[in-house]
Amino acid sequence: MKTALVWGATGGIGRAVTELLLTTGWQVVAFSRQPQHLDGIATFSFEANFANPASVDHALYNAALTIDEADLFIYTAGDIAQAKVENMDSAEWQRIIDANLTGPYLTTHASLPLLTPDAHLFFIGAISERLQLPSLSSYAAAKAGLEAFAATLAKEQRKRKVTVVRPGAVDTPFWDKVTLRKPADAAPPDRIAQRIMTAYNQGTTGHLDITH
Ligand SMILES: NC(=O)c1ccc[n+]([C@@H]2O[C@H](COP(=O)([O-])OP(=O)(O)OC[C@H]3O[C@@H](n4cnc5c(N)ncnc54)[C@H](OP(=O)(O)O)[C@@H]3O)[C@@H](O)[C@H]2O)c1
Repeated sequence: MKTALVWGATGGIGRAVTELLLTTGWQVVAFSRQPQHLDGIATFSFEANFANPASVDHALYNAALTIDEADLFIYTAGDIAQAKVENMDSAEWQRIIDANLTGPYLTTHASLPLLTPDAHLFFIGAISERLQLPSLSSYAAAKAGLEAFAATLAKEQRKRKVTVVRPGAVDTPFWDKVTLRKPADAAPPDRIAQRIMTAYNQGTTGHLDITH
């Protein structure tokens, strides 16, 4: 049985990924700030705030007591704030950078020793060049940074695969955090989960744009 680490398993996309993995025979180690919301859908669940190094390390330490290794790493957490630079306070800026960029670093750093030599790592980005819109500076900067992080990681981890999934709009609670109207054709999160697993099965690396 293969094992996946899913960081952010209680989010819209994270939950869809977790459910798909379980129905296709995977063992899922799920991490969330609110593991009680997983309702027992993961094989193992651990609480962690991905912005906090000690919290991430503690969760991974406990996970390593329950599994030997993991074949798949998926970071599905993220956050967004809408404010012009002149109005955004530093705590809000930091929260968005933490959820979208520092979290990927902290969870990757902690997870690498537990990953198989040919493991595949997925990060959920966005089509970052389309995000350079007023009031989205923190989110756009974090997602652009995530792409640079992943590209560099891929060069360091030559035997492993690294993919940045870049969805268009997805129908999740993420949209409740902004005043932007969710597009009527927003993709269901299970479509994103399916495309991630297709990419895993085909060994697709680099950018995976999902716009339809
Ligand atoms: N939805 C879209 O249209 C869309 C489009 C392109 C890209 N994306 C990206 O897809 C990813 C998943 O988004 P989603 O649509 O599934 O959003 P979501 O339903 O709002 O889920 C986001 C999850 O991230 C978790 N999270 C945020 N900060 C965290 C932290 N510091 N520590 C632990 N967990 C944290 C949240 O935890 P809590 O439940 O505890 O708050 C939540 O479960 C994000 O990176 C987002 O940028 C989404």
